Amino acid sequence: MSDRPRLLPLLGATRHGARDAMTCLYRCGNACDHPVPNSSDNPYFGDLIEAEVSRRGVVRAGAVGALVLGFGGTVAGALAGAAPAAAAPAAPTAPAAAPRGGVGSGALTFDPVAPNKLDALVVPDGYDHAVVIKWGDPVVPGAPEFDVRAQTAAAQAKQFGYNNDFVGVLPIDRRRALLVVNHEYTNEDLMFPGFTSQDALSVEQLRVAMAAHGMSVVEIERVDGTGQWRPVRGGRRRYNRRVTALATKFELTGPAAGSAWLRTAADPQGRTVVGTLNNCAGGVTPWGTVLSGEENFNQYFVGGDGAPEELKPKLARYGIPTDVRYPSGSRKWERADERFDLAKHPNEAHRYGWVVEIDPFDPDSRPRKHTALGRFKHEGANVIVAKDGHVVAYMGDDERFDYLYKFVSDKKFMPGDSWVARKHNLTLLESGTLYVAALEGNSAAEIDGTGKLPSDGAFDGRGRWIKLVRGNRSYVAGMTAADVLTFTRLAADKVGATKMDRPEDVEPSQLTGKVYVALTNNTDRGKAGKAPADEANPRNVNKHGQILELIEDRGDNTAETFAWSLPIVAGDPADPSTYFAGYDKTKVSPISCPDNVAFDATGNLWISTDGNALGSNDGLFATAVEGPERGHLKQFLTVPLGAETCGPFIKKDNRSVFVAVQHPGEITGASVEHPASTWPDGDFAKPGVVVTWRHDGGPVGS
Ligand code: FEO
Ligand code: CA
Ligand code: CA
Repeated sequence: MSDRPRLLPLLGATRHGARDAMTCLYRCGNACDHPVPNSSDNPYFGDLIEAEVSRRGVVRAGAVGALVLGFGGTVAGALAGAAPAAAAPAAPTAPAAAPRGGVGSGALTFDPVAPNKLDALVVPDGYDHAVVIKWGDPVVPGAPEFDVRAQTAAAQAKQFGYNNDFVGVLPIDRRRALLVVNHEYTNEDLMFPGFTSQDALSVEQLRVAMAAHGMSVVEIERVDGTGQWRPVRGGRRRYNRRVTALATKFELTGPAAGSAWLRTAADPQGRTVVGTLNNCAGGVTPWGTVLSGEENFNQYFVGGDGAPEELKPKLARYGIPTDVRYPSGSRKWERADERFDLAKHPNEAHRYGWVVEIDPFDPDSRPRKHTALGRFKHEGANVIVAKDGHVVAYMGDDERFDYLYKFVSDKKFMPGDSWVARKHNLTLLESGTLYVAALEGNSAAEIDGTGKLPSDGAFDGRGRWIKLVRGNRSYVAGMTAADVLTFTRLAADKVGATKMDRPEDVEPSQLTGKVYVALTNNTDRGKAGKAPADEANPRNVNKHGQILELIEDRGDNTAETFAWSLPIVAGDPADPSTYFAGYDKTKVSPISCPDNVAFDATGNLWISTDGNALGSNDGLFATAVEGPERGHLKQFLTVPLGAETCGPFIKKDNRSVFVAVQHPGEITGASVEHPASTWPDGDFAKPGVVVTWRHDGGPVGS
């Protein structure tokens, strides 16, 4: 494959940061070519200015941290009854000792990786890495060998899916764990030799694509006491499982389950959905399940022009064009399954856009879609147990000018290893209160869209969680609870939520309770007819994004008010519009388009990027968030050409960093025969999950 094609990076440049046109087409159905779905005229809350609460006064959620750090033991213990005899319950995994200065305060001593455009995964000196699993590898025992030239849906449904995104690693014991991965989307150009167009694909090939979506659960084992992990290849592997868009049945839970909006010809009760779509990020819950966000589900539907007139505004608010049968970027899946044709089955679209919960330790369990957490383009969901025991899920709606949400459970988390506790905790996300965020800056008059730091030295302010619905009670005029949960974007429009720069991953630190939001970019910010810069989204034509830190009042994650600030305004540190918590910018790595966030055992913040608009490959970065090293951001790794970095996950022993390498070689003009990347095997590009560890076995990052 030496006669590489003339690739077309310039044609690939889009309004979506530096993302290639091919990524725009397959990832989000050319979202940037369609109008911004949020055309609401939201008022800003003017009554939010309250006395600034000293952020240093926030209570450290020490009890919560201890609870969650005991999770490895809790889950393993809960499993004792289900696991094979060999799977002894694990001792809780102790975190590495906190560095001097306390939780989340640094000790990130690796030498940063330089920006580059290599077709390779690059890690710091002193570190090694290996591919754990990649597209086509066997997942379910008995999976046929991968053959890119003769792929079938039945084979793909047993093999590792395409375009891995979220990564979770749930311990079974010290030696074994379950790797749980999302497969967000497919790229048929790079999957099928001889690809010419979506229309030319056979129905079987469309079904291959459907089977390559979804999730994988894979039992993995530690290699010889190192930080390396690999799939268990022999034995029963009873947990190994594929969840697909093709065949896996999901149960709808919560107040909107069974509502008229969710009923279809195939499911007149509105309670069972086949498949999950565009699963982006997610989170591991304190009770040992995995949450997964259904994101750009809109692109899988056609026939919006033929939907009932009264539904069209609702479809449009979710990015489904209602003036054409085939929007640009259509997958044409209706050729394989007519439920993707909204002219025939207009409610089918409402059955996606939810947070999915899967119990990887119960391979026969039916995954659930939780309507209580609302319906939007869910990036993911991350849970923390609040001081009073209620669980709180933080969530972003990844679209330009869309919103930040949280859910607070009605019931309280039940600690312990018993099956009673586990059964109880599995119901926590079925009932609760859904809020949307309104943010107010304290230097509003100084925000001019350039990114110039206000005179008080910070982009910061106060915020309020606006209640949308609790259980079956709606707090939004003219909408029932089922309306609010099914058309959450429309409900949030009505209450004056703050339009954000594409909220991606939103994750609370289990050690401090502070919440970190990746706002990836928004090149439409400040354009004619669009919302101008504000203090939380301070740059017009925002190409590089920012990180928002949210501190709930009284350190209580169920609070309805909070303080916020921007510790990082991303970009080239030489660019005066960037900010790294006041740290010396000459020592900071350039970063663009933060997407996923994670924490190591000491509470440092790790950030992966998608769509680097600075000309380098995407990467993974880490920074302290407390103490004098706050803002000292360093690049830990870069991914191969055309790829983005997803799903960072740092094992609780701080010995292994997992990342998903998504869409390697996704550059316009590339194909299986003429790949733009040959990672990882030297032939054609395959998405895969990578683990990185220190040669000397020491803690990662320090
Ligand atoms: Fe799938 Fe918001 O990235
Ligand atoms: Ca300010
Ligand atoms: Ca993402």
